[in-house]
Amino acid sequence: RPAGYGPDIDVSGLVDSRNGLVDRSIFTDRRLYDQEQARVFATSWLFLGHVDQLQKAGDFFTTYMGEDPVIVTKDKSGRIRAFLNSCRHRGARVLRADYGTTRAFTCTYHGWSYDLEGKLISVPNEDGYPAESWDRSEWGLQEVAQLDTVLGLIFATWNPKAIPLDEQLGDMKYYMEAFLDRDSEGTTVVGGITKWVLKGNWKLAAEQFGTDWYHVNMSHASALMVLSPTGKGPKAEIANTPGRQFSDEHGNGTGFPTHPKSRFDALPVHQHYDYQALTERLGEARVHGPLTTGHATVFPNFSYLPVNGSIRVWHPKGPDEMEVWTWTVLDKSMSEEVRTAQRLYNLRTFGPSGIFEQDDGENWSEIQAISHGWRTNTIPLNYQMGMGSETDDGVYPGSTSALYSDAAGRRFYGRWAELMNTPAWHEEEQSR
Ligand code: FES
Ligand code: FE
Repeated sequence: RPAGYGPDIDVSGLVDSRNGLVDRSIFTDRRLYDQEQARVFATSWLFLGHVDQLQKAGDFFTTYMGEDPVIVTKDKSGRIRAFLNSCRHRGARVLRADYGTTRAFTCTYHGWSYDLEGKLISVPNEDGYPAESWDRSEWGLQEVAQLDTVLGLIFATWNPKAIPLDEQLGDMKYYMEAFLDRDSEGTTVVGGITKWVLKGNWKLAAEQFGTDWYHVNMSHASALMVLSPTGKGPKAEIANTPGRQFSDEHGNGTGFPTHPKSRFDALPVHQHYDYQALTERLGEARVHGPLTTGHATVFPNFSYLPVNGSIRVWHPKGPDEMEVWTWTVLDKSMSEEVRTAQRLYNLRTFGPSGIFEQDDGENWSEIQAISHGWRTNTIPLNYQMGMGSETDDGVYPGSTSALYSDAAGRRFYGRWAELMNTPAWHEEEQSR
């Protein structure tokens, strides 16, 4: 197989989503990791950033789609575009800054320069290229195949055949609106983007945010104790909380309690909200569920926590490592004071040193640290909780299960396996 296309390993024996079994090698095997880049990241819609990060023409930020570095910018017509951040000459990273404003992207190696539309506009000593065969227009930056925004979030894909973003999200959008569409003004990014490196396969984090409420009372017991007004930790009604977990065939998932205690009465944002108005806009079911202490993953690697206003992307950095990027996203209509208080609350709980974030990160790193033994790798992991509890409950759209369930995990890995076993769009092109 040509380089860059990944191996072609059949993963049917590694993921049994019907029976809730997952082989540990999907978190450790380098060949599976390469195939994942070529079949999961090359074909899916991937999160790039918040529209707020690009205010005017020439504003840009850099990020990754899988391991591929990309530039995201606003062109002169106001259109958001994304390009591979790799020079067409010798492949240097064209832009090294995290964000900024520019008129052109000039590579620091030999000085090739590209405009905001990705066209190559300037080549030092250009007369050195053979006049008869040199065509500058053939050497523009590689652009993504599709880019779209939803609820203030920018997504893109390399896949020209990917179904539209809206279709890919389906019912998931109903749940996302409970966080990102609380009033007509929309959301804004408050503070910068926090980035850190964590030992652990990216799927461990993505999976947990989609499906795993089960860990909360055990992993976060001490953090819950700190936050509890009585200092006694999770109360029985929280430990046995009712709630729902949504999952779909595209691998998206979200879980949320439906207990009134899950409302954000104790948080800074509480003073901002009028529950009456929220109920009118979003309906009672959403105000008592996905609006608050839920968590969610949009397949493959974008996750969020509505109660904190935290959005994050889990960038893969080899099978054993991820880079976590997090933003605090709050309603534009919030006062400066509420924004600051909520941002600080978010950092205290879900920043790199946050009391909850550290519990989660330590679990993922610990799992990864012991995952390379041969015996360890031959024993399947269990994703059987809530099996058979999936139903259309008539309240929340799509298929939902009990809150403490692996339903979204089974579908996350089901989708992952489906993509891993299907030749990607670029492989078809290659074989033509
Ligand atoms: Fe960019 Fe040579 S690598 S100009
Ligand atoms: Fe957690």
